[in-house]
Amino acid sequence: MIKNPNALKFIHLTDPHVAGQEALVYGRRPTERLRAAIDSINMDHDNADFVVITGDLTHHGDMDAYEVFARELRRLSVPSHLLVGNHDDARAFAYQFPETQRCEHGFIQGSKRTPFGLCLFLDTSEKGTSKGVYCEKRRTWLANALEETDGPVMLFMHHPPFAIGIPNTDDSKLQDSEAFWHVLAPHKQRIRHIFVGHAHRVMFGNWRGISVSGMRGLNHQVMLELNRQQAGQSGNFEAPAYGIVLADADQVMVHMHDFTDRSDPFPL
Ligand SMILES: [Fe+2]
Repeated sequence: MIKNPNALKFIHLTDPHVAGQEALVYGRRPTERLRAAIDSINMDHDNADFVVITGDLTHHGDMDAYEVFARELRRLSVPSHLLVGNHDDARAFAYQFPETQRCEHGFIQGSKRTPFGLCLFLDTSEKGTSKGVYCEKRRTWLANALEETDGPVMLFMHHPPFAIGIPNTDDSKLQDSEAFWHVLAPHKQRIRHIFVGHAHRVMFGNWRGISVSGMRGLNHQVMLELNRQQAGQSGNFEAPAYGIVLADADQVMVHMHDFTDRSDPFPL
């Protein structure tokens, strides 16, 4: 894909769930999927400005897993920005990635200025729960970050602050989404998109007028069970994907790249 010099191009990749010792997760080897995604990016999209990985970098949050994850990530030819999710462990993560941006309260939050707006990377993880949390300290950091600029903003976070219609996923969405919304609301007109992980599904839409998208996980997916009556949730092995995002002064466009597809091309 030839890059428009007047646009930003970045990759949205999420939920690799890497395990230590290259172990299996739900019968699959997540390292292989991460490796395939990195190979694909290096081969076809090394002109991307950066890659954002929106959390659940590892499955069990152990040191071995972060070592494997870091080793694979070093092969990536594009700069990366890492978020943590509910499967991650902040201390083990910090051991492998001490240089990752943190806010003054120690949460793994940071920002990146681009010619087409400010990217804010949020930490929605909370030790001891799989549910998303965005506490007052984090909200204050976000409020200040938004106040300090007046241009367009793109947000990246692991837990969606909105429901997607899958009961089990919605139960673990950002629990304090109303308080989160109160921080965003004064800036709604300039928040151009929210990119989320956690859902292990591709979905697009908008939340209170702000466009949003989520991507498939790399290792396994959350099955599309919109009407499940009983408790629990099934997973499955729909193909992994990553997003290719093209953003300029007019628009934000998200392509889903089914990077393991090997079907033969033909002339149209
Ligand atoms: Fe996940």
